[in-house]
Amino acid sequence: MLGIKNLNLVIFGIGNVGGTLVEQINAARPKLEAQHLKLNIPVVTNSRLAFFINSEDTNNWECDFENCSVPYNIQDIIDFVHNKKLDNLIAVDATASRDLVNHYELLVKSGFHIVSANKIANTLSYDFYESLRATLKAHNKYFMYETNVGAGLPVIETVRRLYGSGEEIKKIRGVFSGSLSYIFNAFSDENIPFSKVLKQALDLGLTEPDAREDLSGNDVARKLLILARELNLKPEIKDIRIESLVPKQLNGKTTLHQFNTRIGELDGQFLDIKSKQSPGHVLRYVGELDVAKNTLEVKLVSEAKNSSIGQLKGADSVFEIYSDSYNEFPLVIRGAGAGKNVTARGLLCDIIKLSESLSSNPVCLSAVGN
Ligand SMILES: NC(=O)c1ccc[n+]([C@@H]2O[C@H](COP(=O)([O-])OP(=O)(O)OC[C@H]3O[C@@H](n4cnc5c(N)ncnc54)[C@H](OP(=O)(O)O)[C@@H]3O)[C@@H](O)[C@H]2O)c1
Repeated sequence: MLGIKNLNLVIFGIGNVGGTLVEQINAARPKLEAQHLKLNIPVVTNSRLAFFINSEDTNNWECDFENCSVPYNIQDIIDFVHNKKLDNLIAVDATASRDLVNHYELLVKSGFHIVSANKIANTLSYDFYESLRATLKAHNKYFMYETNVGAGLPVIETVRRLYGSGEEIKKIRGVFSGSLSYIFNAFSDENIPFSKVLKQALDLGLTEPDAREDLSGNDVARKLLILARELNLKPEIKDIRIESLVPKQLNGKTTLHQFNTRIGELDGQFLDIKSKQSPGHVLRYVGELDVAKNTLEVKLVSEAKNSSIGQLKGADSVFEIYSDSYNEFPLVIRGAGAGKNVTARGLLCDIIKLSESLSSNPVCLSAVGN
């Protein structure tokens, strides 16, 4: 008879993704326990407060967090789990915080594996990227970050498995951003001004509050960088050619309010690009890594409507992987590439994958990212 495996998760960030993750863990408990897996949550935090949980019941965590959370620093959390002699420790990063990433190495040295939705650790300098992996290796710890690209879609795992099996990956191309997918799918299909589509995306909560963060292409570039590094390439973010969709006159020097009142200024430019396309083509904002040419680009392209990228609908993402075996017709991964439910589920999948690996020899951990 198998014993129950206990994992102890410290969840940093209880916003859209982290909060949904706690709910999904609570709902999945009976199923997981039937599979001999128990996920304990000894601590949840936001940027200022932590709730140190002394009971096994986390069903009222939100209310308890409101009433019982206290200011904390990272050492308080490490001391708490060590004093309780908890093992199988996992720090779950559901923040977009650089500060927390600065604590990753300390967390690893203090016994934590890391599961992260936060892209920052993988998109800082290559020196940091290598140093983190060296620390993980020295301490036999895992770093799982499938949700960094395509949220719950199995993009990183697929790329890593193909590459790790000796497959030569030639190109990765796709629509990596849910918000920009929605914007260009709707703008291409309907006869409406670009600013109206942008406003719809904003109202639906698909873009960041400042839509320039999406339109700048930086988030797509970060995902491209993460995929390139999975192929053992060593680019930095500055090596990516990014076609920003924010016109110069509306860039960071303009306030958000000014940008929102002047978004009509984007209409002429995008209508012009749309009308100059060949028949049967649609606009898409793509990320593209060409391994042979050693180029990483984020750009607006005109795509045949019947291609996998051209057929995209709603706010879906699509990733095309071209390789030796997937040469003429790429391997295609498509589906919701953002949203709190799919992202939290992706984190939970990473946690469960990690739990399966914990019983095996830690020296083999490179298979999942360190
Ligand atoms: N939402 C998606 O669809 C999606 C998809 C893929 C990946 N992601 C990634 O998932 C992460 C979380 O996204 P989200 O949408 O859940 O963001 P969110 O709703 O803004 O929540 C962020 C949470 O992180 C907390 N936080 C910030 N700095 C922290 C720190 N230093 N230590 C501990 N907690 C801290 C915030 O606390 P305060 O309230 O105190 O600031 C908040 O609870 C981001 O990295 C995002 O890029 C999101």
